[in-house]
Amino acid sequence: MKTKYVSVTLLDQPEPSHPLIIEAAEVIRHGGIVALPTETVYGLAADATSTEAVERIFKAKGRPADNPLIVHISDRAQLEGWVEPPGAFVESLMDRFWPGPLTIVLPLQGHHISPLVTAGLQTVAVRMPDHPVALSIIQAAGRPLAAPSANSSGHPSPTKAEHVKQDLDGKIDMIVDGGSCGVGLESTVIAVHEGQIEWLRPGMITIEHMVNAGFIKKQPYFTTMEHTDQTRPRSPGMKYKHYAPQGLMTIVRGQEEQQVMDWIQKEVEHTKEQQITVGVLTFTEHANFFNADLVVSYGSVKEPEQWARQLYDSIRAFDLAHIERIYVEACSDQGVGHAVLNRLLKASQYHIIEV
Ligand code: TXA
Ligand code: MG
Repeated sequence: MKTKYVSVTLLDQPEPSHPLIIEAAEVIRHGGIVALPTETVYGLAADATSTEAVERIFKAKGRPADNPLIVHISDRAQLEGWVEPPGAFVESLMDRFWPGPLTIVLPLQGHHISPLVTAGLQTVAVRMPDHPVALSIIQAAGRPLAAPSANSSGHPSPTKAEHVKQDLDGKIDMIVDGGSCGVGLESTVIAVHEGQIEWLRPGMITIEHMVNAGFIKKQPYFTTMEHTDQTRPRSPGMKYKHYAPQGLMTIVRGQEEQQVMDWIQKEVEHTKEQQITVGVLTFTEHANFFNADLVVSYGSVKEPEQWARQLYDSIRAFDLAHIERIYVEACSDQGVGHAVLNRLLKASQYHIIEV
């Protein structure tokens, strides 16, 4: 299959009437699959009401069929008829955080959404992305769109159109390039039970945000997020290995920054002696300290939002350079750092060393 590649910059004012937006929407309306930018990561979108179309997403990504997809809407009126009417608490979460990087798992209703989307569950994950290209394509398509991240299963999520190309060229109908994603990590996923929030995947919307906005009184435990290898996880995606680079990744953490850096550089030298290519993922301020085959920075020590934005691009850089061992200077787990560290831990398969 030939993948059509188009570019829609924000300067083009990507309204639903823009010719390229109409073209992408038409591909989707005819059962095709289209990679499009959202504020978090690129998504691979299909008509959520068409089983044939959704099947093509699973095939292109090599995604296990028991891992359900998020349904994307551009307008809350589109929820009508396939989720149970959300109560006041959920409505107020939508008021506060949509459009934005918050996915809410809601009780499913009827048969409008393909059962492949929900992997047969009685719930459906929904979000309204905060990106003009995504919103316009959903609106022009006139239906809810199922869209997982537009990467091959097991690879880091794509934050640039070129990442999508690396993974899915020739396997999907169209790529709409809208530049780099602003957030860089997948949305926060929550479920709500009688006014209580269950955290399923950490992201840019943090517990602190919810506390500050008055949605939760105190920090709950992260039980469902941290136990990734349960046999029946609450969110099926949690049991799969994710975001893995080809090289063996080790996260290094410690009280003293300098101690961590010294430890990593010593390991780098050991590794080089064994004729193994070695890389370091660190902060901008520390990059000059290291002497390795590839040193990549994922942002300033002081800017957690940069870590989120640059993480996946950095991990892909090690793959492109065929680096066999990667040492990562761990970031703080505060605020957005919690989500970044969660993805780093998964990428390293929980290979973490405290020094
Ligand atoms: O930011 C994002 O969320 C991106 C963009 C494209 O919107 N999408 C994304 O989709 O990350 P995906 O498929 O890579 O991750 C969806 C996650 C998985 O962990 C899945 O298990 C969970 O959402 N999920 C989907 N439906 C669910 C449900 N009914 N109950 C619990 N978890 C669900
Ligand atoms: Mg994904």
